[in-house]
Amino acid sequence: MKVCVVGASGKLGRYMVQHCLDRDYEVVGVCREQSVAKLDEFKDRISIIPGQTNDRDMIQRAVKGCDAVLTILVPWGMQKYASGTAQAVLDFAELHARLVFSCGWHISMDGKDRYSWKFKLFERVFGFIGKLFRAVDLQDQYEATRRIFASDRKWTVVRGSDLEEGESQGLPVWSRHVGDPILASNLTRRIDFALFMVHAIENDELIHEAPAIVGRESESARASSTT
Ligand SMILES: NC(=O)c1ccc[n+]([C@@H]2O[C@H](COP(=O)([O-])OP(=O)(O)OC[C@H]3O[C@@H](n4cnc5c(N)ncnc54)[C@H](OP(=O)(O)O)[C@@H]3O)[C@@H](O)[C@H]2O)c1
Repeated sequence: MKVCVVGASGKLGRYMVQHCLDRDYEVVGVCREQSVAKLDEFKDRISIIPGQTNDRDMIQRAVKGCDAVLTILVPWGMQKYASGTAQAVLDFAELHARLVFSCGWHISMDGKDRYSWKFKLFERVFGFIGKLFRAVDLQDQYEATRRIFASDRKWTVVRGSDLEEGESQGLPVWSRHVGDPILASNLTRRIDFALFMVHAIENDELIHEAPAIVGRESESARASSTT
């Protein structure tokens, strides 16, 4: 299995690389030129392709021959970074490839998610301040996922809760809609978010799903397993 990790140098990206290596997958990591050193611990075990992840030519080279592409979708900058990255992956990945994308709970596939007022307020303030300083473009992240949801490729969009560091608790549990009781704790270990992304490669039941995840040892997940 050959896997391309787009955005490999970030915190989530590096955990994904490690999980792939643990499974003896061959890994191609894509990251910005200035971040290559963040992958030093893996440099003898993976191929690294430096470049902006919305550079279409670079993505075309990186995903060639890959059976899966794991993509971190981030809303940074105002250069259509998320939608450019997603579109390049959708256009150039091998036809048989599993495509797994990461984002947060704020993305909704069918509009049936139920958000708390605190969550909505945070999203609005974050989006407004980010746009004001031209640092964050949430609208472009919505556009990226709209294109993925409309695609007939073999995609999964994994929607992460709030994240924390710490030892793995195992594979997170998931639900189709934010607001479902099992997700109420809104907390997942970052290492396990990455585990879910890598696990999705070989789980065909997750094709065309946008699972919202939460830590399997979180209070809400444990409460749901006993009811
Ligand atoms: N953090 C949270 O609490 C949270 C919650 C829910 C979901 N998520 C999702 O988790 C994923 C990543 O989270 P993370 O915690 O691993 O974040 P992270 O370590 O900050 O990594 C984010 C990625 O963004 C890239 N990046 C940073 N600044 C950039 C810029 N100005 N232009 C382009 N790319 C830039 C980083 O690349 P470099 O290495 O080159 O800097 C890295 O690949 C995202 O899909 C996010 O939506 C996060």
